[in-house]
Amino acid sequence: MAGEGTLQAVILAGGQGTRLRPLTLERAKPVVPLLNRPFLAYQLALLRSHGVSDVVLACSYRVDDVRAALGDAEHLGVRLRYVVEREPLGTGGGVRNASDLVSGTLFVMNGDILTDADLSAMRRLHEARASRTTIFLQPVPDPRQYGLVETDESGRLHGFREKPTADEEIGTNTINAGIYLIDGPLLGRIPREQASSIEREFFPALIADGIPCFGWCPTAYWRDIGTLSAYRAVQLDLLHGRVRMPLAPLGERVAGSWIAGGGAVAAEAQIVAPSVVGAGVALGPRCRVGPGAVVGDGSTIGPDARVEGAILWERVEVGAGAVLQDCVIGADVKIGAHARVGPEVVLESGAVVPERATLTR
Ligand code: GDD
Ligand code: MG
Repeated sequence: MAGEGTLQAVILAGGQGTRLRPLTLERAKPVVPLLNRPFLAYQLALLRSHGVSDVVLACSYRVDDVRAALGDAEHLGVRLRYVVEREPLGTGGGVRNASDLVSGTLFVMNGDILTDADLSAMRRLHEARASRTTIFLQPVPDPRQYGLVETDESGRLHGFREKPTADEEIGTNTINAGIYLIDGPLLGRIPREQASSIEREFFPALIADGIPCFGWCPTAYWRDIGTLSAYRAVQLDLLHGRVRMPLAPLGERVAGSWIAGGGAVAAEAQIVAPSVVGAGVALGPRCRVGPGAVVGDGSTIGPDARVEGAILWERVEVGAGAVLQDCVIGADVKIGAHARVGPEVVLESGAVVPERATLTR
């Protein structure tokens, strides 16, 4: 139980991250790196900036990764606790499993949403409308892979349809953005220790029972990072300042890039902004990193190599004259000299690319 005035949140972080494979074979989705920081650090910083200081992570898959990356999150100004499902309980059962640690009105959020939305304004709306559950909504061009939400002109919810099938009629392009404010006692409606879906069961039942629930549709940056193309795209958005996050990349700001230092930069190596260069990175003579490059801690970029629009995890070795363009490279990958790795290629951790090989998608 939190003290009075303490705002709480439950983050759903127990999915397998199937759509982010092979990256999530190696690391749990909630802590895949974004600009060299674990993803959840951004969510925690956002929550913190809106007065949430007590967060419960509902986990089931690769919990050790999450603990290793975040610990108790003291450095981010929040208290972070973990509840672990023995078997995945879905988005409903996952929240229910965390419900003994929370009370009052709380935020519940999917652990794969990057947004800079003003969550304090969401709270004000929740209170002003005497809403019992408020759902953050976003318009999207293709809503089928999301939860579709219908509201009346006052913003009150009157329909929630999770991922409609191809032949179902779609009357809206407004989707569930995966962040909710829920009055704690309502969580008692979710069965304990039983798999269920907050989207397919809990929300439709609230609406059917006439409980006042509202949508909140801000103008804000919003993206689900859970697909490979989104994973790279959100990092470019962060680099280009298209998301206003309370958490900057680690390192010193130098000519529009962030450089963590502790490595070796050859005299004619170039870092083209905006880029992020992690700690202990060695940049060889005449290599060019950026624009739009993220180089993980302990990586080595060989002489004359080029890294552009590419995300490199930790300890990647890039051989002399190799070219990496718009791709994602897992940890400890070795790229042979003069190899080329092209747009949208994703290499799993530990992969080895032979000299002069060309990889495309
Ligand atoms: N604890 C726990 N247990 N968490 C889970 C489980 C589980 O069994 N299954 C999934 N989660 C977590 C995931 O880790 C993720 O953070 C969140 O729940 C949502 O799961 P996704 O698998 O990412 O769902 P989605 O992206 O297809 O759809 C959801 O998000 C959309 C917005 O991006 C739904 O909430 C949609 O309605 C929504 O539009
Ligand atoms: Mg998702």
